[in-house]
Amino acid sequence: MSDTARRLRSQKWFDDPTHADMTAIYVERYLNYGLTRAELQSGRPIIGIAQTGSDLAPCNRHHLELSQRTKAAIRDAGGIPMEFPVHPLAEQGRRPTAALDRNLAYLGLVEILHGYPIDGVVLTTGCDKTTPACLMAAATVDIPAIVLSGGPMLDGWHEGKRVGSGTVIWHARNLMAAGKIDYEGFMTLATASSPSVGHCNTMGTALSMNSLAEALGMSLPTCASIPAPYRERGQMAYATGLRIVEMVREDLRPSRIMTKKAFENAIVVASALGASTNCPPHLIAIARHMGVDLSLDDWQRCGEDVPLLVNCVPAGEYLGENFHRAGGVPAVQHELLAAGRLHGDCLTVSGKTVAEIAGPAVTTDRDVIRTCDAPLKERAGFIVLSGNFFDSAIMKMSVVGEDFRKAYLSEPGHENSFEARAIVFDGPEDYHARIDDPQLAIDERCILVIRGAGPVGYPGGAEVVNMAPPASLIRQGVDSLPCMGDGRQSGTSASPSILNMSPEAAVGGGLALLRTGDRIRVDLAARTVTLAVEPAELEARRGEPTFEIPPPQTPWQELFRGLTGQLSTGMCLEPATLYLKVVEQRG
Ligand code: FES
Ligand code: MG
Repeated sequence: MSDTARRLRSQKWFDDPTHADMTAIYVERYLNYGLTRAELQSGRPIIGIAQTGSDLAPCNRHHLELSQRTKAAIRDAGGIPMEFPVHPLAEQGRRPTAALDRNLAYLGLVEILHGYPIDGVVLTTGCDKTTPACLMAAATVDIPAIVLSGGPMLDGWHEGKRVGSGTVIWHARNLMAAGKIDYEGFMTLATASSPSVGHCNTMGTALSMNSLAEALGMSLPTCASIPAPYRERGQMAYATGLRIVEMVREDLRPSRIMTKKAFENAIVVASALGASTNCPPHLIAIARHMGVDLSLDDWQRCGEDVPLLVNCVPAGEYLGENFHRAGGVPAVQHELLAAGRLHGDCLTVSGKTVAEIAGPAVTTDRDVIRTCDAPLKERAGFIVLSGNFFDSAIMKMSVVGEDFRKAYLSEPGHENSFEARAIVFDGPEDYHARIDDPQLAIDERCILVIRGAGPVGYPGGAEVVNMAPPASLIRQGVDSLPCMGDGRQSGTSASPSILNMSPEAAVGGGLALLRTGDRIRVDLAARTVTLAVEPAELEARRGEPTFEIPPPQTPWQELFRGLTGQLSTGMCLEPATLYLKVVEQRG
C-alpha cells in the first residue's frame, strides 16, 4: 500500500502488475542485499544519495561516513536510501584540471537520475566542481533534490597564524621565489593549511559554491558553513535525510526553488561573501540547465555594487570556522535582507522562504560578518569588462588592491585607467618556461597575459591566470602584477586579474593576435580593456601563424572541446542545455 496519495516514479520500476516480467527483473536483484518485496512495493520514496566522496576525492571523502546518518534519517522518515557513486571531482588531484570533469560528472548524474528508480536525491557536495555538477544535473532532471555540503576543513595554523588552503600556496611561492623559504619550508607552510577532513577552509570555490547552493535555497540553513569534523555536520546529514523524504511527498522540485529571483539572490550573496571567481560560470551553468536566463549582465546588474560583508580569506582574514560561528549564510542574508538587497519571498528546500530564514538569523561576531552600513569594502562584486579584442571578462573587486580600487571608485577619466606593456604566454607551460627570462625585461609597468587556457584551448579551462611575477621582481618587493587571460584562476587567489576572457584565443578570440610588447589600456571605471594596435596591423597578424593548441590526450577531452561553450556562458555542453526538466512534471 502506498504511503502517499500520488504514485511515485519508482513504482514504474517496482510495482507495475501490468508489466510483471519487467517488474520482477527490476525487483529481484535489489532483494539480494536484504531488501524485501514488501519494502520495494510499498510505495515508499526511493531516495538516491549521489556520493561524491571516494579515496580519489579527499575533500569529499567524509561523505562516505556522513551518508550513514543520511540513510538512517531517510529510513526514519519512511524512505529507502540508495547510494551510488558520482564521477570523482578532485580539484587538488585531477590532471589536467577537475573543471574538465564537471560536465562529465553532470552527464553521468543526469543519466543515473533519469534512468533509475529514484524519487528524490541528496546531492553530497564539497570540493569545487562537485556543487555545480550536482546542481546542474538536478536542474536538468528536476526531481526533488537537496544539497548536503561536506563542510570546510578546520582552520589551518602555522607559527601562530591562520593559514588558509590554496591562498597559502600563492603566498608561499612568493616567499620561495624571494629566497625566504626553501622546499622543506614551503611544504611545511603549505600543508599546514589542511588540518582535517573537509574541503578548502578559505572562501575559495568550494565554500563559495556551497554557500551559493544555500543562498539559492537548495540546502538547509547553515549547511554550507559547518566545518566537516563538527558534530553539527553529522546532525545536518540527518536533518537533510529527513527533509528529502518530505520533499518527495510534497513534490518540491528544483524548478520551484531555483528561479530567476533565487539566482539574483545568489549573485548578491556572492558579492557579500567575496566569493570565488569561478562562481559566475558555475551559477550561469546551473541556471541554463534550469531553463533560467542568467548572464554576466545579471552579475554586473545585481552584484557589482554590493558591499563585502564577510571577512574571510582571500578578501579578508578569517576561515571557515569563524564564518560558521559568526552565523554563516543566514546571518549574511539577514544583513542583505535588512538592506533591501534580497528577494525575501524565494522558497527554499526547508519549505521556508528566504525571509523566514534570514529574518531571525543573527551574527555573533561583527568582525567576521559586517553590516551593509559598515562593510569591509563598498562595491565589492565582480565587474564585467569588455574590449576591442574580446567580448567579456570578469574581475573580482573585493581582492583588488587599493591602487586599483582608488582608480575604480573615482569618476571616469584618465586617472581611472592604466596602460601596460603586454607579456604574452601561450599556456601555463610557456609561462613557467619563460617568466624568468631576462630578455622579457618584465617590470612593474607590465601586464602578464596568458592565452590558450580557456575551455577549448586547455580543455576545461586552466586556473592559471594568477601568474606570479618573475622572481627578480618579487625580490624587489613586487608581489603581484596585473594579469589577464582566457583561463580561470583559483578562487583562493587574491590576484588582480582580468579572467575568463571570452571568446578564448583557441576559438578565434582576439587574444590570439596579441604580441609581447603590445600596449594595453585598462579602464576600470569604464570597464574596458583596449589593445592599442592599429586595426590594419591586427588584420595583418590574422594571416600569420599564431599559437597552437595541444592535441587532446583522451577521448573525453576531444568530445569536450567539440561541445563546450565559453566561460562567459557557463562552459556548458551546449547540446545539453536544450534538455530541460527531463523527468516529466506531474501535477
Ligand atoms: Fe577540494 Fe579546495 S581542493 S575544496
Ligand atoms: Mg580551483
